[in-house]
Amino acid sequence: MSAGRKRGLWGTRFGFYLAAIGSAFGLGNLWRFPYVTVENGGGAFVLLYVLFAICIGLPLLIGELMLGKLSRKSVVQASLSLDEGDGKSFASLAPLPRSKTSWAWIGRFSAFACLLILAYYAVISGWVLHFLMQFFFGHLMSGSYDAENSLRVLRENGWLQILLASVHLLLSLIVVAKGVQEGMEKWVSNAMPVFVVLLIVLVTKSLSLQTAPDALRFLFYPDFTKLTPFSMLHALGHVFFTLSIGIGTMVTFGSYLNEQTHLPSAGFRVTSIDTLISLFAGLLIFPLLAGATPKNVGPELLFQTLPGLLQSLDNGFLFGMAFFICLYLAALGASIGLLESVVANVLDMTGLSRAKATWLTGGAAFLFAIIPALSTSSFRRVKIHGYGLLDILDTVLINGILPLAALGLALAVASKLKPASMEAEFVNDDSIATRKMYKHWCFVMRWAAPTTIMLAFLLAGWGIVRTFLFSGI
Ligand code: TRP
Repeated sequence: MSAGRKRGLWGTRFGFYLAAIGSAFGLGNLWRFPYVTVENGGGAFVLLYVLFAICIGLPLLIGELMLGKLSRKSVVQASLSLDEGDGKSFASLAPLPRSKTSWAWIGRFSAFACLLILAYYAVISGWVLHFLMQFFFGHLMSGSYDAENSLRVLRENGWLQILLASVHLLLSLIVVAKGVQEGMEKWVSNAMPVFVVLLIVLVTKSLSLQTAPDALRFLFYPDFTKLTPFSMLHALGHVFFTLSIGIGTMVTFGSYLNEQTHLPSAGFRVTSIDTLISLFAGLLIFPLLAGATPKNVGPELLFQTLPGLLQSLDNGFLFGMAFFICLYLAALGASIGLLESVVANVLDMTGLSRAKATWLTGGAAFLFAIIPALSTSSFRRVKIHGYGLLDILDTVLINGILPLAALGLALAVASKLKPASMEAEFVNDDSIATRKMYKHWCFVMRWAAPTTIMLAFLLAGWGIVRTFLFSGI
């Protein structure tokens, strides 16, 4: 940390949960989970996703929080401590020469990936803003709203997407510039109750539709023949994305935790609430989607079908507005978490003020956002195997970079933190259960998680080879 700066802590214990859940719960649950589930055939994928969330996601989440709490630094500086040792929580230098044990690059890679994800996220959040406004003004002006036209306007108009993404980034900047307690913690504690009430109302409405039984079957009946060689990587990537792990967000959040917090309990609460909310989001969206025949499954799925369907319900205007407000609150909460973790790294590395660091990071995210924002207009001809630039970016970021970063962080934490410090975070009052849990956690961090991630990459690699062989290229 730059000299003399005092690190903010969460104002209340509740503050951490609000921010971690606010950051975990986002477009990943409402926008991405439905289309990835459709792409991978439904129930069996959902099962895989829940399994990975508990067995791989949760231990990694605890590991990231631990790295943050023990180092009191964000991911870049924390991974430097992994190299240098601090004599307390970090094992001192391994016998290998330092150049061969450099973990620092993992921190830098994570922080950079975080910036890229923020940029991509801002573009999709801009879409949500667009639909929110179209829905509202459409109804206000003419009593209805033309879903197809809204999507077309958005697709053809790259500059509109850039404008929307920058408005979204600006809103996130305003919150983050205020600091941890005054900004993120306060914002999330105000937005969360609104969000929860809206979600409950919407799920109740969705489950009362005639299509609900079909949707439930699709979501919960596992048909393993529908899985593809990519499903394992898709499930893992999505777990990392939705729990906000792999790129240091939780390292930052852990660094603001106070001493007494029991990390496994904190991790467990965040994972279970986020997974439940994803399933809830499935219950909300699939009954609505069940009657529709989407033109293509992908990032546009939600926007193609849902606005029109919502408006056709009784009181459609109210439900439509409730849905888009919910979606936008989720998008903003997660973007604030993403921005906060990049800003925290900049603060740790430089002597800049929080305001300056926030604007600098926001500016960089804006520049990176230009590419995805133009993906459906200027870059619409960029295609690989029929997939557009947005699909490609989504895959590279979430199914490629995120699992790789998570793999690096898991190995770094497991091999460089001092066992005694790790154990102290885990074991509660000498209870045998927590001691056992600690052993399991070590095994997952060192062996199970890395092996599963590698296996998922191998399977996906085989899937790519098979696709190219069969399509004769
Ligand atoms: N978890 C958020 C979602 O589901 C997105 C997000 C926020 C995120 N912070 C992150 C993803 C950090 C990866 C890493 O929408």
